[in-house]
Amino acid sequence: MSNRLPVDRVVDEAGQATWRPSPGGLVTALQPVMRAEDGVWVGWAGVAGEEVEPFEADGISILPVALSEQELQEYYEGFSNDTLWPLYHDVIAQPSYHREWWDSYVRVNRRFADAAAGAAAPGAVVWVHDYQLQLVPAMLREVRPDLVIGFFNHIPFPPYGIYSQLPWRRQIIDGLLGADVIGFQRVADAGNFSRAVRRLKGYETRGPIIEVPIDTDDPESGSHRHVTTNRHGGLVRTVLARAFPISIDAEAYQELARRPAIQERAREIREELGNPETIMLGVDRLDYTKGIGHRLKAFGELLRDGRLDVEKVTLVQVASPSRERVETYRQLRDEIELTVGRINGDYATLGHTAVAYLHHGYPKEEMVALYLAADVMLVTALRDGMNLVAKEYVATRVDEDGVLVLSEFAGASDELRQALLINPHDIEGLKDAMLQAIAMPKRDRVRRMRALRKKVLTNDVARWSASFLEALTRSAHGDHPLQ
Ligand code: G6P
Repeated sequence: MSNRLPVDRVVDEAGQATWRPSPGGLVTALQPVMRAEDGVWVGWAGVAGEEVEPFEADGISILPVALSEQELQEYYEGFSNDTLWPLYHDVIAQPSYHREWWDSYVRVNRRFADAAAGAAAPGAVVWVHDYQLQLVPAMLREVRPDLVIGFFNHIPFPPYGIYSQLPWRRQIIDGLLGADVIGFQRVADAGNFSRAVRRLKGYETRGPIIEVPIDTDDPESGSHRHVTTNRHGGLVRTVLARAFPISIDAEAYQELARRPAIQERAREIREELGNPETIMLGVDRLDYTKGIGHRLKAFGELLRDGRLDVEKVTLVQVASPSRERVETYRQLRDEIELTVGRINGDYATLGHTAVAYLHHGYPKEEMVALYLAADVMLVTALRDGMNLVAKEYVATRVDEDGVLVLSEFAGASDELRQALLINPHDIEGLKDAMLQAIAMPKRDRVRRMRALRKKVLTNDVARWSASFLEALTRSAHGDHPLQ
């Protein structure tokens, strides 16, 4: 279950709606499992106010959940993306708290839970994804205690001092604790969650295990899985909360990068940019968590101070449109485009752009060509659950060249230690890292990239889903691995 389905609805020129597989890694990872297990994917059809009948896509049954226009505004744009998103990303933007949004979030989560309850076979495994659906685990457990329920949070989980702002902080914790296994991107996220559980609920934790007391007056209490007695003699359900860092289908990216047509396209991109000595690249959803403004500031100052020469270096910034009806995102777009315009106005020449700014999404093939063309990849997120762009860049560098500049505030920095790690708030440090990346001798580039590639190619998304599902299945047998 996820807010978005693994297929996108596209309307052709004749006005005919069809479905196109969405390119995300989650789909690639889960497709084989879903097919083998005769799985059903429950998610929002991507259009408001329309009922879409269940259908089949690439051997997976799709069960669409309908949202009204008002629910789209209150549950998706409102509570999910204007309350939870900024709150969980360390309040980089101010979260809005509206009671109507919360009511809508509860209603829509219930609709998702009901859909799954109706579709799941007895004892089935249900895997719920991301912050839009945090109430689903408990709602589902209430009506279907026979199910094995997992939850994975793709975004950060904030420290208690921030999380505690949320007026519905207890309800969300209760919702999540309906799962048997709760997965997070980083060890720090899992720790933040466990601390919130202890502070708000007073539940005991043993390492990654949370003990949830069972209400013995509840007639269903006997049907719970892995019930044990805690050290005070009370009956508890155990829930495993730990990190399962997500990844990408590294092999698929590598395969694309080896295609002659894509390598040719990479050379063409370089030429189209006027053959600069260095191409720096940023690829992000246009989101305030990504630190695009910080990256532009650093780049602009390097040009201003004459430490970079516009004839030699070009920054390509792909900013794909995102959540465009949310006000904070509109403001961000204005700010970024103003900054890009100023930098180009001040430093570009007729023959050389300073920042090539692209407000589009691109097919995977074009993205891989861009990664191959980029000498330096800039990932400067202020807060990011994982950041798969960093891993994609590494997976495509089959030539073992290229330098990754990576924010320590992205989950990927836990694994990708051989990147040039930066604090994006430290503009001087960021500028130094950019210059260091540009000047890095080939031997050092290759040494770092080799180490990075080893990590990304080993820990791919298939491994991630297998390890989560293994933990989940083991938990169904009352066996919570401690690490
Ligand atoms: C992040 C979230 C996903 C979300 C994606 C795109 O990666 O973790 O849950 O689907 O952004 O955002 P959107 O609002 O367009 O689904």
